[in-house]
Amino acid sequence: MPQATYHFPRGFLWGTATASHQVEGNNTNNQWWKFEQDGHTDGKSGLACDWWGGRWKEDFDRAAEGGQNAHRFSVEWSRIQPTPDTWDENALEHYRNMLRGLRERGMTAMVTLHHFSDPLWLYEMCGWEHDDIVSMFEKFVRKTVEALKEYCTLWCTLNEPNGYALNGYVIGTFPACNKGLRTAIRVEANMLRAHAAAYRAIHEIQPEARVGYALHYRPMAAHSKSPLDILVRNLQYNALNISFPSAINTGVMKSTLGNIRIPEAKGTQDYFGLNYYSVDTVKFDITKPREVFGTRYFPEGSDLSATKYIANIPEGLFDSIKWAMRTHPDTPILITENGVEDAEDKMRPRYIAQHIHQVWRAVNFNFPVKGYFHWSLVDNFEWERGWTQRFGLWGLDVETQKRIKRPSADLYAEICKENGLSSEMVQKYCPEVFDKLFPV
Ligand code: FCB
Repeated sequence: MPQATYHFPRGFLWGTATASHQVEGNNTNNQWWKFEQDGHTDGKSGLACDWWGGRWKEDFDRAAEGGQNAHRFSVEWSRIQPTPDTWDENALEHYRNMLRGLRERGMTAMVTLHHFSDPLWLYEMCGWEHDDIVSMFEKFVRKTVEALKEYCTLWCTLNEPNGYALNGYVIGTFPACNKGLRTAIRVEANMLRAHAAAYRAIHEIQPEARVGYALHYRPMAAHSKSPLDILVRNLQYNALNISFPSAINTGVMKSTLGNIRIPEAKGTQDYFGLNYYSVDTVKFDITKPREVFGTRYFPEGSDLSATKYIANIPEGLFDSIKWAMRTHPDTPILITENGVEDAEDKMRPRYIAQHIHQVWRAVNFNFPVKGYFHWSLVDNFEWERGWTQRFGLWGLDVETQKRIKRPSADLYAEICKENGLSSEMVQKYCPEVFDKLFPV
């Protein structure tokens, strides 16, 4: 049996990613909490992982003991700025404590400033639909970065602005004020302007900062060679994947309804943040006018996750990295999210090994990938899907707050500590893909 190790370069970042609303608990002052009380989600976030109550400490211990040298978390705008005219210094101190906690554990911090949750006051004025969101977001970012800059230099302005706009304003699974494609595009344009303003503000406050955002990049294949399938595939692909990157490259946002000039967005990224989960196949569907007449599905025979939310297609990660590198030459790439929902941990070990193998392939082509953040450290509140999906390396008993270690936590720990993926690890945790990863 072949024995080998796929090693990574020294200094590679190994971490997990989390988001405030998903882990903190009792975030009663944001739009998601309201959405939950109004019955639009599968269960309620409640205490979540109780990070606001202090359980981030024990979870950071788990991450550090598991060999992770980085962690990506987000701050909760609704806590820092509970009303338009007030700041909560205690909330900022809470995040300073968390950042000190990472530093004490020798871990690099990455802070996301907006991860899907908005203060209720902002949501009630349909904030992201209006131009003045740009100055409001900048004000919040300035205050937060000033308070946290001692402990963090790696910033992610927005998480998946494409997902935020499309899930909310077009598909309707996320809370959103006035729905429709036109509104979604206005929201995305405003997110780009807000990102650009934040990018400049952060660099003004902290010249050494590295600032970017995280894109949900989704490779897509057409169902068949029929021109209609190809057309809707292209429409969906562009609508999801291209608006932000196009504006950051050229200052012009390409959208389904035409080009929008946002010159200030050009060049506002020090690294590219890639969230990769799966690949879609797109088929023409007359019943889906809101989604530009396309249905997305996974082909029969795909290696599907527990709730069929994700198909395990590791080559898609390699293709996404290649796409990112070509789209943004000379820009470091961070895998800011990648993971799978799998309460029983049947697929996750092979999902991890196969995806990390693809990252290794990319690194060996000299593609500038500098780190990998697995989604997620502990099971957390999965937005409209609530507690029905379990993405943690560690399981969570929501009633008792007890953490339950999954085999994947041990596999990931071995990878982080070795700074590489070995044949022994694959043999031990996911022998079913041994031949694929270590062919004779
Ligand atoms: C991403 C989100 C993250 C989590 C994972 C599963 O799209 O950024 O918060 O929900 O999906």
